[in-house]
Amino acid sequence: MLNVVILAAGQGKRMRSELPKVLHPLAGRPLLAHVLDAARELGAGRICVVYGHGGEQVREAMAAADVAWARQEPQLGTGHAVLQALPHLDAEAQTLVLYGDVPLIEPATLSHLCAVAGDGIAVLTVELPDPTGYGRIVRRDGRVVRIVEEKDADDEIRAIREINTGILVAPTRALARWLPTLGNNNAQGEYYLTDVISLAVAEGLPVATARPGHVWEVQGVNSKVQLAELERACQLHGAQLLMEQGVTLADPARIDVRGELDCGRDVSIDVNCVFEGKVRLGDGVSVGAHCVLRNVTVGPHTRIAPFCHLEDAAIGAACAVGPYARLRPGTRLADDVHIGNFVEVKNSQIGDRSKANHLAYLGDATVGRNVNIGAGTITCNYDGANKHRTVIEDDVFIGSDTQLVAPVTVGRGATLGAGTTLTKDAPPEQLTLSRAKQVSLAGWKRPVKKK
Ligand code: UD1
Ligand code: CA
Repeated sequence: MLNVVILAAGQGKRMRSELPKVLHPLAGRPLLAHVLDAARELGAGRICVVYGHGGEQVREAMAAADVAWARQEPQLGTGHAVLQALPHLDAEAQTLVLYGDVPLIEPATLSHLCAVAGDGIAVLTVELPDPTGYGRIVRRDGRVVRIVEEKDADDEIRAIREINTGILVAPTRALARWLPTLGNNNAQGEYYLTDVISLAVAEGLPVATARPGHVWEVQGVNSKVQLAELERACQLHGAQLLMEQGVTLADPARIDVRGELDCGRDVSIDVNCVFEGKVRLGDGVSVGAHCVLRNVTVGPHTRIAPFCHLEDAAIGAACAVGPYARLRPGTRLADDVHIGNFVEVKNSQIGDRSKANHLAYLGDATVGRNVNIGAGTITCNYDGANKHRTVIEDDVFIGSDTQLVAPVTVGRGATLGAGTTLTKDAPPEQLTLSRAKQVSLAGWKRPVKKK
């Protein structure tokens, strides 16, 4: 079983934030959570996170993660950091070193790295047009002999474009032998993890290398600018995967998935939509521009028009939602339901073929089938202290601008006249209205302003 050590003790000063760097969100989740996912997907037996500055906050935020924590205080370098993790590792296994601020590393890249390492040591490297700042991979006759940090390098070594991503895998027993012997006699006065490479070579062990599938996999986050760059890389990659699955995206550069988006066949998504948490879109669903969907399931062939905000809602098949609809938590729409513009629904169930097409609030309501809710209808669900339910049975017609003062029930097939304020149950099949009789006063004059 593989050990994974995740280094996360650095301060992240350049983020200029109170939040520890590895807790900053990318695609809606902390940087560190992405790295933990990759480690788990690899089937890591033991995972140890090395933390330092702000570490208690990191531990609290990640309390649910089943990992070991090793405190590194003070932070004397990457070699010193891995040394702190050793007591938590399985001495017989290989150890893979990852970084809490390098969030987009792909499990496929890592399993390839582990495969080329076998029982030995392997380093993930990449060639960059501008290698400034990175440790350089020094080879002799094609074989890796050592890694030299930028600050310790002469001009010849600085010209090398193959760099150390920092990610490596090595036998834990060998690390336990090498790490305590590291010196810090270098430009930064640090214990460099990279120095284990020359120690391995000195013992006659070969050092293998592997490349990541994409450069963004090995890019770190040190600033808000880099965070934004990786966010775009991550979103674009996710968009490409969606398109490969057959999803039509109006513009792959203008979609944000901050969680899991699961799509059926022939789904199409217009520009600037945000998907958060778990969202499932059934076959043939279309989502208009500028919608936000959070923890929502949408049944087949439903159309979401532009500018909708949908949260913790379950929408059936062949519904029409929006434009400008708001579905709040606890909304359940059955099939062929229409929710139109400026309609807000909360904690309510709406039956098949029912419609609320304009300007309504349905809160804590149970609405049957074939119900028509007129424009401006409001459930008065809150009496200032408690919430109450409104029940609207099948085949009801509710006239415009009606207030339903809950708790109240509208019986099957009833009609409510426009402008009704319903304070008592409405019997089935009858017309109920609470309006005063219409009168017209002949000879009435509008008041005029006094001089
Ligand atoms: C390191 C590598 C360098 C590589 C580069 C890739 C070493 C000596 N150098 O350099 O070859 O090209 O990464 O980005 O390893 N950390 C700790 N404790 C410490 C020091 C660092 O946990 O005492 C963590 C940091 O939080 C950070 C990571 O290790 O996530 C890298 O540390 P950093 O000091 O940025 O290393 P680099 O100088 O960039
Ligand atoms: Ca760095």
